[in-house]
Amino acid sequence: MKLEDLRVDGTRLRQSLEQMAKIGATAGGGVQRLALSDEDREARDLFVSWLKELDLTVTVDQMGNIFGRRPGTRDELAPITSGSHVDSQPKGGRFDGILGVLSMLEVMRTLHDHKVQTERPIVIVDWTNEEGSRFAPAMVSSGVWAGALELDWAYGRTDINGKRQGDELERIGYQGDVPCKHSPVHAYYEVHIEQGPVLEREHKTIGAPKGILCLHWYDIYLEGEANQVGPTPMEGRHDALCAAAEMVLAVNELPAKMGGNMVATVGEIQNEPNSRNIIPDKVHFTVDIRSWDDDLALRSWDDLKQGFETIAKRRGCPIRIEETWRVQHSPFDERLVQRVMDNAEAIGYPALRMVSGAGHDASYANQVCPTCMIFVPSVGGRSHVEVEETSWEDCEAGANVLLHCVLQSAAES
Ligand code: GLV
Ligand code: MN
Ligand code: MN
Repeated sequence: MKLEDLRVDGTRLRQSLEQMAKIGATAGGGVQRLALSDEDREARDLFVSWLKELDLTVTVDQMGNIFGRRPGTRDELAPITSGSHVDSQPKGGRFDGILGVLSMLEVMRTLHDHKVQTERPIVIVDWTNEEGSRFAPAMVSSGVWAGALELDWAYGRTDINGKRQGDELERIGYQGDVPCKHSPVHAYYEVHIEQGPVLEREHKTIGAPKGILCLHWYDIYLEGEANQVGPTPMEGRHDALCAAAEMVLAVNELPAKMGGNMVATVGEIQNEPNSRNIIPDKVHFTVDIRSWDDDLALRSWDDLKQGFETIAKRRGCPIRIEETWRVQHSPFDERLVQRVMDNAEAIGYPALRMVSGAGHDASYANQVCPTCMIFVPSVGGRSHVEVEETSWEDCEAGANVLLHCVLQSAAES
């Protein structure tokens, strides 16, 4: 068979996705595999067992990133790397992250079955804690790997129960001793569901994002004065939740106010003591701002922050603001983006250039090596929800495009 006629086994890819989806399966048809939970460990164990079946050299680094390496005939050359993440959102979907990991696994299996030897080595990766939902920020381990985030800072991040990320990594047995530090990579590819409505609307099978928006995360802490709700008059209250409510709406109104292309969201909130008959005295909430225009996102934050301070003062609720994390927008390698388009066309899949509004480990990979992504459609544009869906044919299409992108990059000297 000519190499350009090689195709992945879509049935096997589907079976692997279905098997993985049993780990942390939720009643609503999704999965919950929070980073460094027992479910994350179980998914990792299964993943590693699959890597071993292919005789890959498996390494685990200090952040628990798992790599499986397949040697090349010119093994001294920098590898082609691809993967994504096995962790999920709370009540997340069966495709986010895991599709990219298992698409690359299917590529590895296909090469193995057909005894294809590549010039460059090929590496599959599962990045630890892409979601950032249990431990903020997201993409933390590709961030450390790329040298953009500090290992000790990452270890010290805590979840809502005060558990440290480093301790949880150790607890599940995935704190490796290989330094979490990048070495040269010739090309990084990541297959992912689009997580938005564009491909479906445009009737395209493959998306070739030109890059990823910037992501800016903030944590806001408000102090109020708790009191019995009945006897306490409305005047003179210091209700931290009311202050937060005004701020949440200010976030929602920010993109329209600032103009330009931007989204802004409050997705998480904790209210204390959270009793219907106590005035709330402690509120924490998060702010997520994204744009292709990093300066617009920063200017918008300055405006928002000023507004927060005014609200906090007026309501007599002291405010503490943490500027938790920023990653700049990531313009991908144009040559690789074109390669995705070309391979989609060569195989016969309608393809579209687009932008990624979702964050991905490709963002940090892009800071240290030529990078791009391969998107497949999300049914109804829904993601980070249990009903997240992508057709098996589209999953197979993404893996086929990845196969040929990997083969072509691996043949470059
Ligand atoms: C990652 O899942 C993101 O928040 O886009
Ligand atoms: Mn993802
Ligand atoms: Mn996600």
